[in-house]
Amino acid sequence: MRFDGKVAIITGAGGGLGRAYALELAHRGAKLVVNDLGGSLDGSGRSSEAADRVVDEIRAAGGEAMASGASVTSVADVQAMVDAARNRWGRIDILVNNAGVLRDKSFAKMEIEDFRLVMDVHLMGAAICSKAVWDLMREQNYGRIVMTTSSSGLYGNFGQANYGAAKMALVGLMQTLAIEGAKNDIRVNCIAPVAATRMTENLMAEEILARLQPEAVAAGLVYLVSEGAPTRTTLCAGAGGFETANITLTKGIYDEAPTPELVAARFAEIADRTDEAVPENGGGQLRGVFAKAMAGAAA
Ligand code: NAI
Repeated sequence: MRFDGKVAIITGAGGGLGRAYALELAHRGAKLVVNDLGGSLDGSGRSSEAADRVVDEIRAAGGEAMASGASVTSVADVQAMVDAARNRWGRIDILVNNAGVLRDKSFAKMEIEDFRLVMDVHLMGAAICSKAVWDLMREQNYGRIVMTTSSSGLYGNFGQANYGAAKMALVGLMQTLAIEGAKNDIRVNCIAPVAATRMTENLMAEEILARLQPEAVAAGLVYLVSEGAPTRTTLCAGAGGFETANITLTKGIYDEAPTPELVAARFAEIADRTDEAVPENGGGQLRGVFAKAMAGAAA
C-alpha cells in the first residue's frame, strides 16, 4: 500500500498515535503535515517542539514533512495550516483528526468548563479541520478523512462523560460526512484505538502497555486512508486486534394504537437483537417503520 504523491495532515502528531501514523505514511511515500499544539495532556501550554521533532524524524528517514503548531480549535490557525500545505504541495488527500486532550473526573465533580474544553478540542477541532479541507477534497474528487473515536464514547467509561460525549459525537459527524462526501469519493471513517501513549500510561499495568504499541493501530489507520478504504466504518484497533463497531437497529414491533403499557409489555420483543441491522442512513429507520405500518394496513 503506497501513498506516493499523496499529502496527509495528521493533527496531534507530535507524539503517541499521531506520530506513529505520520511515520508510517511518510515511510509509504506520503508528504506529511505534522500538526501538534504541543501542550500537556489536559490541554494547557503550547510548544512547537513536538511537531518539529517528528518532522526531523521523517526527514532523517528521507521523507517530506512540514510542522504546524496550529490549535485545531482555531479556525484561523487551521486555515493557515491548510493553506501552507496547499501552497507547497498543491493538494490534500488525507486528514486524520487525531488531536485530543483529557479532563477526566466523575460527572459529579466535573466543572462545565472541563466538559466544554474537551468537546472543543475533539469535536469542534475535527469539524474545523474537516471543513477546512472539504472544498478542496470535493474539487479533487478525492479525500480520505478519519475521526478518532474511543470505546469510552461508544460504550461509556467511568469518569469520562465529557470525553465520551465528544468521542461519540465524532461518530455522528463521520456518518453524515461519509454520506455527503460519497459523490466526490471522499471516504470518512472512525478509528477507535487502544495504545500505550501518555494518555494511557498511568491507567494500565506495564505488561499490558507493552502489548499496546501505537504501530499496531497505525496498520488499521493506514488502511482507512488508502485508495481502497471503506467508508462509514468504525474500526476498533489495538494490540493487533481489529473489530468494527456498529450502531444497530432491532427489528422491533409495530402497533397502530400504542400505549405505555403496550411498550412495557412488549419491551423484550422491542429490544430483541435477533436479526438487527444497520440502516443505510437516518431515514432508513423511519422507512422501516412505514414499511411495517403498510404491511399492517395490508394485513
Ligand atoms: P497523545 O496525548 O500522545 O496525543 C494527542 C496529541 O494531541 C498530543 O500530542 C497533543 O499535544 C495534541 N493536541 C492536544 N490539543 C491539541 C490542539 N488543540 N491542537 C493540536 N494538537 C493538540 O495521546 P494519544 O493516545 O496518542 O491520542 C491520540 C488520539 O487517540 C486522541 O484523540 C485520543 O483521544 C485517542 N484515543 C487514544 C486511546 C489510547 O489508548 N491511547 C484510546 C482511545 C482514543
